Amino acid sequence: MATVAERIFSGVQPTGNLHLGNYLGAIKRFVELQKDRECIYCVVDLHAITVWQDPDELRRHTREVTAAFIACGIDPKSNIVFNQSQVSGHAELGWILNCVARMGWLNRMTQFKEKAGKDRENVSVGLFTYPTLMAADILLYRATHVPVGEDQKQHLELTRDIAQKFNTDFAPNIAANGHGDGYFPLTEPLIAGPATRVMSLRDGAKKMSKSEPSDFSRINLTDDADAIANKVRRAKTDPEPLPSELEGMKGRPEADNLVGIFAALSDTTKEAVLRDFGGAQFSAFKAALVELSVSKLGPIGAEMQRLMGDPASIDAILKDGAERARVIADQTIRDVKDIVGMVRS
Ligand code: AMP
Ligand code: TRP
Repeated sequence: MATVAERIFSGVQPTGNLHLGNYLGAIKRFVELQKDRECIYCVVDLHAITVWQDPDELRRHTREVTAAFIACGIDPKSNIVFNQSQVSGHAELGWILNCVARMGWLNRMTQFKEKAGKDRENVSVGLFTYPTLMAADILLYRATHVPVGEDQKQHLELTRDIAQKFNTDFAPNIAANGHGDGYFPLTEPLIAGPATRVMSLRDGAKKMSKSEPSDFSRINLTDDADAIANKVRRAKTDPEPLPSELEGMKGRPEADNLVGIFAALSDTTKEAVLRDFGGAQFSAFKAALVELSVSKLGPIGAEMQRLMGDPASIDAILKDGAERARVIADQTIRDVKDIVGMVRS
């Protein structure tokens, strides 16, 4: 297998309404990983346009995700933070991987089925090949680990299948070009902790999402203390008090969700939260959750707001990140061209 050091890559779409699920499932984990590893964090604008985006909003949301990364604690100097479209290798490798991935593999992708719904004939072609572009994002940097929420698991399995097929299809050329018996690593997903799938505050069966029409379904990273308090208080629950053990959460998705959120925000486990709150009524638990959420998210929202006031500084961060990303990406594109058999100068 290719001898590459551990490298982290992940991406977030600039599609607005960044929420608590994005934070707990992804961005908070990005921050933890930067301590001891090389990390590349990307605002995936090419992915965003697989569904219609207003151009001015796309630009604003790209800066907003960047601001969120930084406000949450990602250091853009010791890591690489950039937007996807500034590094052309994503689109280039995406094309080549479109020719490696099989229709049958993409046909099985549940996210496409959900997003396309009944309107399959009328969605963009890009929405269908979205997962091969995601594989290209990761493999362009030969990343070994990808922190994401639970909803991305299938896409990461596909990324491994694509890497594996590329390594097999081109095995002789990979060896001939001095890359041993595999060029792309088989990337590992990093999906762990108490909040890999944060659910809607209005419906414990639905994922918290950017596109849900009701704003009460999610806590946005830009919500102020009043909005957070209001949403937590109105979050759906059931009439029973909290149990003192995990066992008692079965069949109580809304309770389970709030406990998971509490655990993730306070860097502990659901078990530990239940040890503290077992027997408590939701009114008491929600009051504690409001206090915790406001203390953790309040400063992030305020810092995002401050950063958004200076878009030129955000653009400078993205430019610097893109320049450093390009160095790695260009090398991969050269290698891949040699492996596939493209004449290059
Ligand atoms: P997206 O907004 O689709 O680009 O997602 C960005 C990151 O947030 C991905 O790693 C997702 O898996 C993660 N994510 C999105 N929604 C949730 C959720 N409700 N719970 C946990 N993680 C989520
Ligand atoms: N598909 C991911 C999502 O919607 C975003 C994404 C694009 C991504 N490219 C990636 C995540 C590469 C991890 C790695 O959440």
